[in-house]
Amino acid sequence: MELKFNLKGAFKTSADPTGAKEVIAQYFDEANNTILKKGAPEGQGAKITQWDIVDGSIELTIESGRYVRAHDAIMRLKKPLAAKLGKDFRIGIRGVDVKEFTISMPAEGEIGNMNIPHVSNISKVEGGLILELDVGESELERRIPDRILTLMEEKVRAKDYGGKAEHWQIIWESDKKEHTFSGDPTQEMMKHGWIKRGASRGQWIHGPQSTKMFRTFEKIVYDELLEPLGYREMIFPKLVPWEVWQKSGHAKGVYPEIYYVCPPKTRDPAYWEEVSDHYKVTHEVPTELIKSKIGDPIGGLCYAQCPPFWMYLQGETIPTDEFPIKVFDKSGTSHRYESGGIHGMERVDEFHRVEIVWLGTKEQVIETAKKLHERYMHIFNEILDLEWRKAWVTPWFMAQEGLTGLSEQGEAGTTDYEAPLPYRGDDGEWLEFQNVSINGNKYPSGFNVKSQTGEELWSGCSGVGLERWASAFFAQKGLDPENWPEEFRKRVGEVPKGIRFL
Ligand code: SER
Ligand code: ZN
Repeated sequence: MELKFNLKGAFKTSADPTGAKEVIAQYFDEANNTILKKGAPEGQGAKITQWDIVDGSIELTIESGRYVRAHDAIMRLKKPLAAKLGKDFRIGIRGVDVKEFTISMPAEGEIGNMNIPHVSNISKVEGGLILELDVGESELERRIPDRILTLMEEKVRAKDYGGKAEHWQIIWESDKKEHTFSGDPTQEMMKHGWIKRGASRGQWIHGPQSTKMFRTFEKIVYDELLEPLGYREMIFPKLVPWEVWQKSGHAKGVYPEIYYVCPPKTRDPAYWEEVSDHYKVTHEVPTELIKSKIGDPIGGLCYAQCPPFWMYLQGETIPTDEFPIKVFDKSGTSHRYESGGIHGMERVDEFHRVEIVWLGTKEQVIETAKKLHERYMHIFNEILDLEWRKAWVTPWFMAQEGLTGLSEQGEAGTTDYEAPLPYRGDDGEWLEFQNVSINGNKYPSGFNVKSQTGEELWSGCSGVGLERWASAFFAQKGLDPENWPEEFRKRVGEVPKGIRFL
């Protein structure tokens, strides 16, 4: 099946246009060979296949393929037609009525039930789908039909890719190492009183010992990487409103994984009194009642960490000598609603990360990433003595937008750092313990950040997940400082005593 747009609509006129029929006929004939073909490859474009004057308005049917789509075509016709009718007949065009709008598109296989705005029906036919749209002039102007087609094409493609794995290509690998430990580090840390489960799903409370390890990891990152490379610390917000995710692209697909945030409808104590009273009497928190008293979600808890930073730069033009801008944030937790089942520290709903962000010209961004890779290499080889590898994978933002497997990657993309966890066995899945990404112009363009010279800006980010570092390091080395590499032991110093229980 070929892609086809079919629009049946009408120009609403201020008076009966019957007297102008000749002029209209002539104009439509001409348009079929001129403005409705303009910009389309030879033999393509839109065509008025039928028209008539019905009940004092000009009804017409337009068909098109991918170029000069029917909805663009009707908009192209409107102004010149209005000019003709206005000049000689004093008739105005009041607007466009859309009576029927269908898109026929190629698609193989089954397609489930879907609820898509402005689509009133989807039917499966031989080799394709027919979408019936419910749109008016304002939707045509806002290019809603294009967005619907893009979305449906994306769904069809995702289905074709269905079974295919995410993009993954190894680019560097350390030597194999003898590991001094083969247990599950989470179990071991619990056993030694380093950590306890928090009250919330996938959440941990870190005792003094584990906290010391996290702070040591941070210090290593700071001393060996951030400080020598000249990164400046900032504090990024941790409650992320929709506006940020609309600009970062997360609004396209992050919904299954975020922790939503809803504010109270009012902070008037009287409004909440019944909730308090209910609790005081029953000792149960009346969550249904609370639901009725809170507003719509305004966004979610920090998820990818770097997106809210970009509001700082939004709309700004930055002098050339500022670049590359290099900053980091370690001011708070990130949250992901993880898959069910019991996980250890390697898969948590609440985690701690040092997020590193840089911005500059394409060359500067690529060069900055290279320097980071060098410093990480030094840390993992010389200080932590890990067995690990690097792989080129689906860019994190594509994965987070639900575009897994669809990417054609160029210079932009994500490098994952992965480590084997000996307790998972020789064939066990390796753990991603951090990433370095070159994000192309996505962020500067999404948040409208410009350089003084007008040159295109690129950006990158790198997330150092402390739970992930701990999971990789302690899985390979265990908790006994005797078995830690000297460079790490030196930096930890004394492991603090934990809190004892009877
Ligand atoms: N923002 C990136 C991510 O979410 C790096 O931390 O993966
Ligand atoms: Zn990031």
